[in-house]
Amino acid sequence: MKTFKQLITLFFVLFSGQVFSANNGFIIQNVSGRNTQSLNGKWNYIVDPYENGFYNYRLIPFDETENPGNGAFFMDKKQTDKSELIEYSFYDSPTLNVPGDWNSQEEKLFYYEGTVWYRRLFGYKKMAKNNRVFVHFGAANYESHVYLNGKKLGKHIGGFTPFNYEITDLLKDEGNSLVVKVDNKRKKEAVPTVNTDWWNYGGITRDVNLVEVPETFIQDYSVQLKKGGKNEIAGFVQLNGSAKNATVKITIPELKLTVDAKADSTGKAEFSLKAKKIDYWCPENPKLYAVEISNNDNTITDKIGFRTIETKGTDILLNGKSIFLRGICIHEENALRGGRAYSMSDAQMLLNSAKELNCNYVRLAHYPHSENMVKLADEMGILVWEENPVYWTIQWNNPETYENAKQQLTDVITRDKNRASVIIWSMANETPVSEVRTNFLKNLAAVARNLDGTRLISAALEIHSEKDPNERIVQDPFAEYVDIVNFNQYIGWYDGLPELCDKVKWTIKYDKPVMISEFGGSALQGKHGDALTRFSEEFQEDLYDRTLKMLSKIPQFRGVSPWILYDFRSPRRMLPNVQDGWNRKGVIGENGTKKKAFFVLKNFYNEMEKKGLK
Ligand code: GCU
Repeated sequence: MKTFKQLITLFFVLFSGQVFSANNGFIIQNVSGRNTQSLNGKWNYIVDPYENGFYNYRLIPFDETENPGNGAFFMDKKQTDKSELIEYSFYDSPTLNVPGDWNSQEEKLFYYEGTVWYRRLFGYKKMAKNNRVFVHFGAANYESHVYLNGKKLGKHIGGFTPFNYEITDLLKDEGNSLVVKVDNKRKKEAVPTVNTDWWNYGGITRDVNLVEVPETFIQDYSVQLKKGGKNEIAGFVQLNGSAKNATVKITIPELKLTVDAKADSTGKAEFSLKAKKIDYWCPENPKLYAVEISNNDNTITDKIGFRTIETKGTDILLNGKSIFLRGICIHEENALRGGRAYSMSDAQMLLNSAKELNCNYVRLAHYPHSENMVKLADEMGILVWEENPVYWTIQWNNPETYENAKQQLTDVITRDKNRASVIIWSMANETPVSEVRTNFLKNLAAVARNLDGTRLISAALEIHSEKDPNERIVQDPFAEYVDIVNFNQYIGWYDGLPELCDKVKWTIKYDKPVMISEFGGSALQGKHGDALTRFSEEFQEDLYDRTLKMLSKIPQFRGVSPWILYDFRSPRRMLPNVQDGWNRKGVIGENGTKKKAFFVLKNFYNEMEKKGLK
């Protein structure tokens, strides 16, 4: 029975216009393959810790007053008369680089959690009269409100997924004013919630583009091997515009395949192509095919790899062959430059380091990374685990929190469903077991399977021990809903000393593949001592050696991604002269220097490869 207060709260929630990722209800697929004008570069900004640009002094949002956008708008005026009162003006404000978090660009914003207003002026002339124009954001952390020429376009929640708004009817040839309110405050009801072991980088953290498309355009598409088959390429094309039930053409020139498909009244066209001989995508041969998708006057080209991924008992099969996932975890951060990673060169730095380790797989923790990462992984032949930021103590009872998590999961699957490298969708990381939590995750897993029945579902499950101090048990109720039984474990760091690895036996009673998505310990690069000196490279080296031997005894052991490739910033790691705001579990230091553990892991992977355990 809901209390009066809960009912009142529910009323305001329902009628407060709470929308999640109001993308016009969709995300434009493959923006980089379209006619775009980049809005990257220097944007003026105003720090607004009390959100004066959004609420009037009675704390009523300007959006709900007679002139929505007035809050942002009044920041976008130049003083024309000396008597005019203007207290906020972008014209005299400093600038931030977009894309990029504000924390690593401005010393005074290093710890800032709150609102920053951004403003970009631009001119735009359409290439054809009937074309439509959208503004597309790769991501902005965490909540954004977007305005163009004083008109509210929408609100987006979620720090790691794309969103776009149509601006066709608002555009002027010159002097368009794009204003974005970005607020990275952590909130209990958010996804992730208030406690994370990573830096809360705020800002417009990925590319911003204007995208021009025909009146009826190709909004989305899926092209991949039909589940269960090896010679049938199937999928759909989604049109958007007035000529919905048009005919679309899908062509794969190298396979000499082409097919016309008629869209239905909703603009959706399904298709299927029978291929005689496909060169399947795999780490040793990351073959990508040019795929052309066209409707009457619009062709988009993508590069797509075709492969199958499935489990069979305790095995993981890529293209029908058993594979061992030699991985490493990666946070989206460029430790060398500082701040959120976002560019193709950031992706190259991170994935090249993973390749140096002889990895065939990476776990992109703990949230969707930039599209550059998964597109580069396609090119390099690196398999990918992508993760929804359902991390630690999420508000499992909150319907809005569930809708938020569901929307973020839907958006990353929509964005990356054509990426051969992506093989696993992760529902969560280290979430405390309860009935309401398992239902929350079970429902998310069903959403993922419904959107994409071809990839594997997993999560970082919980482990526990009982009477025997040397036994660790994996018996998480969510395990029955995933394809891969995966967990984090820190024996030797948080749980005893490294020698405990030699004694522990694992009880994992599932006839499913087992992966370990995290293990490790901290070492300050360049700090040396014996194997029992905490934070020394030798301690971490010994821990890696003993852990890998322990895990290799698990019969269903089919993959591992130690925590973590590079040291990364975290407000939870403040030990002076050792952590200083960095989580030191990287096998590479913040300065790019490899630690001893790097070579233990690399040798382990080389040995696995020699044994044919690819
Ligand atoms: C956890 C968590 C990571 C965290 C790591 C650590 O397993 O998943 O996000 O950084 O442990 O304690 O370093």
